[in-house]
Amino acid sequence: MKKMNVGLIGAGFMGKAHCVAMSNMPKLFPDAPYLPVFKTVCDIVPEIAEDFADRFDFQNWCTDWREIINDPEIDIVCVCTPNCDHAEPSIAALNAGKHVICEKPMSATEEQAEAMAAAAAEAAKKGVYSMCGYQYRRVPAIDEAKKIIESGAIGELTNVRAQYLQSWSADPRSPLSWRFVKETAGAGTLGDIFTHALDIAQYLAGNVTDIVSIVKTYIKERPVQEGGVDLLGTVKLGDDAKKQAVDVDDEVSVLCKYESGAVGSIEATRMAWGRNNYITIEVHGTKGSITWNYERLNELEVCYGMDDEDGARGFKKIYTGPANPHGDVTWNIPGMNIGYGELKAIEAYEFAKAITEGYEPSTCFEVGYQLDRVCSAILKSNDENAWVEVK
Ligand SMILES: NC(=O)c1ccc[n+]([C@@H]2O[C@H](COP(=O)([O-])OP(=O)(O)OC[C@H]3O[C@@H](n4cnc5c(N)ncnc54)[C@H](O)[C@@H]3O)[C@@H](O)[C@H]2O)c1
Repeated sequence: MKKMNVGLIGAGFMGKAHCVAMSNMPKLFPDAPYLPVFKTVCDIVPEIAEDFADRFDFQNWCTDWREIINDPEIDIVCVCTPNCDHAEPSIAALNAGKHVICEKPMSATEEQAEAMAAAAAEAAKKGVYSMCGYQYRRVPAIDEAKKIIESGAIGELTNVRAQYLQSWSADPRSPLSWRFVKETAGAGTLGDIFTHALDIAQYLAGNVTDIVSIVKTYIKERPVQEGGVDLLGTVKLGDDAKKQAVDVDDEVSVLCKYESGAVGSIEATRMAWGRNNYITIEVHGTKGSITWNYERLNELEVCYGMDDEDGARGFKKIYTGPANPHGDVTWNIPGMNIGYGELKAIEAYEFAKAITEGYEPSTCFEVGYQLDRVCSAILKSNDENAWVEVK
């Protein structure tokens, strides 16, 4: 089987997710185009890089990502650093002829995202491809929803309601990591999780053209976590810890108009007690509706409203499995279920197919840049207290 050498930059939560996914990709997909070989892992914390190299069987580890870019044997670069450190390594890797999968949001600023999209467009002309980590559009239930919408079975779309609700930062003792600092994250909940809900909504309903938003920060300062991987609220720091001001948002609420004429709302917060990874989407059409919730990842609910008799109308539950999109990755029987790990393996497979068959993946850097432009419009709308057109 063909082999491709991988360099990983950033060995935290997402470094682990990508390496588990890349390892599993050829095991789950019989027609996987190559076997990823873990060549070099980079993390600015040497202990993290060394430990990760041991556990994932990387041949080398380093603390400066330029070593990965300068290694002519590395074919694929996986960028899993905080948002402020996406642009420079991604652009350098693309310019060096390496395919790049970079985590979302594309970057910490719209300007950096624009430069990344421009570098990716140039690289694509030479057969070098990019992908941004918006994996939720690859949930089999979401792709099944897309098939149903495109078949016309629920009619013309009228309303799309999307949410991404978490609670891990609702406690003020949850530490201030890179995710709560504008310089490293660019934005708060907006870039971190709102973008996922926005991506699913746009994947199913087309692009958003106009938005009006409310952006709020509830916890104005937090105890500081010094460096390392973001502990995502799993540790609480006491009153004696050093405090720092939070300069990003906790919560974002948006009303939007789509180019199709549909309208809708998108909300995200990391402060919704009782909600963990609660990503929901509900799409209403003139003939029916679709609804889905990540916490029930494998279940898609569809109401073919016009086809049901009065008195028998309701949502029908589809348990996704081998007969649905990306069926290879699912187990043999619907209801055996897949999770986050398999979802990232679908993403790794889509990336592998795109780079070996020579096309831009559906979440290429141009898509990541468009999502960042919507985020800029959301912040502008909140500042101006007015509707804003998306550039
Ligand atoms: N697609 C998803 O579902 C998803 C989920 C979580 C995070 N993310 C994204 O993944 C990225 C990483 O987030 P995470 O949760 O893995 O963070 P993390 O804090 O768990 O890990 C980040 C790692 O990067 C290292 N690092 C920081 N700067 C570096 C540099 N310049 N060079 C090399 N290493 C560096 C840190 O030491 C740390 O080990 C972010 O952009 C985030 O938004 C995506």
